[in-house]
Amino acid sequence: MKEIFPGVFEQGSKLFTKNLVPGVKVYGERLVKEKGIELRQWDFFRSKLGAAIKNGLRHLPIKPGSTVLYLGAAEGTTVSHVSDIVGGKGVVFGVDLSERVMRKFISLSEQRKNIFPIVEDANKPWKYKAFLAEHKIGVLFQDVSQKNQAQIFLKNAEYFLKKGSAGMLVVKAKSISQNVDVASVFGKEVGQLEDSFHVEQIINLKPFEKDHVLANCIKL
Ligand SMILES: C[S@@+](CC[C@H](N)C(=O)[O-])C[C@H]1O[C@@H](n2cnc3c(N)ncnc32)[C@H](O)[C@@H]1O
Repeated sequence: MKEIFPGVFEQGSKLFTKNLVPGVKVYGERLVKEKGIELRQWDFFRSKLGAAIKNGLRHLPIKPGSTVLYLGAAEGTTVSHVSDIVGGKGVVFGVDLSERVMRKFISLSEQRKNIFPIVEDANKPWKYKAFLAEHKIGVLFQDVSQKNQAQIFLKNAEYFLKKGSAGMLVVKAKSISQNVDVASVFGKEVGQLEDSFHVEQIINLKPFEKDHVLANCIKL
């Protein structure tokens, strides 16, 4: 078992994070013990962050102790691994629009004390600004299936990120256009970030996710 980023482990072709709540699975993943420590297998077919790591992400800004604002938390599959990585000294605020998917996420936050659910529209960061007021967000992560993905990301960055903070944007081409060439959708969407961010790396998520990239950026 090799630690490839602080809190992220690799064995053969598999990824793992250290289980913050030993004995408890989140989405049916495998639990393994290594030198007395319990790890959760990270299914990169079900997590775009996992897929980006698998496909050669060079720099993971999410670290033990980080404060993360995660837009598009859904049921918390990926957030659960982010929660493992940031650990007891870190915090993850998970925003999602859908009350239905948030039900499961709210139960997850009851087990994992570093997760805080926010049922809101990520298009309206002013609605959760007060909730985050005492926290300095180190990483903005976004995975929302909306047409205006870059715009939502920029809006939240303006509210919550300082110069030098990290941004990770998942772009889903098919949410933007069904017909246009996928590469030009990625170019156009990531291009919108360039006035506000230094884009360090753009990672295509295939074969784990079709027509998705993750842009790893630093706020200017
Ligand atoms: C692809 S899923 C996210 C999966 C999740 N990131 C994971 O890896 O476990 C996209 C989520 O974005 C949410 N979403 C879509 N539009 C949104 C918006 N305007 N504000 C907040 N969440 C939104 C949807 O409800 C959905 O749960």
